[in-house]
Amino acid sequence: MDEQALHSNQQAFITDGSISNNTKFESNNDKSQLSSENQIFLDEVLEGLNKPQKSLPCKYFYDEKGSQLFEDICELDEYYVTRTELALLEDIKKELAEMIGSRSTIIEPGAGAGIKIQTLLNALDSPELYVPMDISEDFLFYSAQIIQDKFPHIDILPIQGDFTQPVKWLGKNDSENKVVFFPGSTIGNFDKKSATDFLINLGDMIGENGSIIIGVDLIKDTNILENAYNDDSGKTEAFNKNLLARINQQLDGNFDLSQFKHEAIFNHQEERIEMHLISQQEQSVEINSEKFDFSKHETIHTENSHKYSVDSFLALAADANLKSKKIWTDEQQLFSIHYLVQS
Ligand code: TRP
Repeated sequence: MDEQALHSNQQAFITDGSISNNTKFESNNDKSQLSSENQIFLDEVLEGLNKPQKSLPCKYFYDEKGSQLFEDICELDEYYVTRTELALLEDIKKELAEMIGSRSTIIEPGAGAGIKIQTLLNALDSPELYVPMDISEDFLFYSAQIIQDKFPHIDILPIQGDFTQPVKWLGKNDSENKVVFFPGSTIGNFDKKSATDFLINLGDMIGENGSIIIGVDLIKDTNILENAYNDDSGKTEAFNKNLLARINQQLDGNFDLSQFKHEAIFNHQEERIEMHLISQQEQSVEINSEKFDFSKHETIHTENSHKYSVDSFLALAADANLKSKKIWTDEQQLFSIHYLVQS
């Protein structure tokens, strides 16, 4: 195989329950016409909307449009997360490279546009393989090709799938130098129990001698936090509402997007930003022929972004049998990067 081509036909991982974003709902009322991916999407949507506090599963934000909107969010003035983490990564990349050592395999769940990984790959001593994983197929392969062009000597193996599902490494043995790179404080989008389970999974993935480099957003002034998720340009609102647009398109829904308003609030008790869509009037919505009633100001809870202190994150890692080898934070204590290994 051409060394510079993506090794997309290689099978080193399997993921269970992968979801493809490009299957459209094609008929009006016939439930049997839903593709199996959309059937799972529908089941999860109906389950969430039937709860007393209506909710929607956040992984469905990321179709091609949602992934693009998210990249736009990362560049907003209000959204300090991305630039703070990137600057911190720049500062510590040499140290990271030394700790990781040579001939590593880097696995990145939820890789997205793959900007941060380039900082790391540039610093590393002859990395061997880069495995980006993402739910958005088009986005994944597009970014993987860009990285392959920039790093022709590294093998790249993109995996399309839902990275929250268990992933089994079918590749080489445990002595490999495996590193999971999980930036962006995506760990904050899991509730505490799922975050622990997910970290346990990552621990299995890296084996005895591997490591996990994980970016974690820190608890800070409530105004800074809330502004980051309520930007003036309305990108976060568009991102949040894209979920409703997808339900309309793929699951034969009839949400009127203009009748829902985006709001993000910091829940002090749970130490998390919560994103909601607030019904602007009493209304009902049909999805695949099932009807849902909304009272005025009733909300759909669409996502959580948990914030940690250094100590509360260390406690979470410890629950997953992981310990910290080193922690870095920026000067303003906005963001942290942890280097975790098996304890
Ligand atoms: N994990 C990041 C965070 O919680 C990115 C993110 C996920 C995000 N969903 C989002 C950012 C919605 C803004 C809006 O900040």
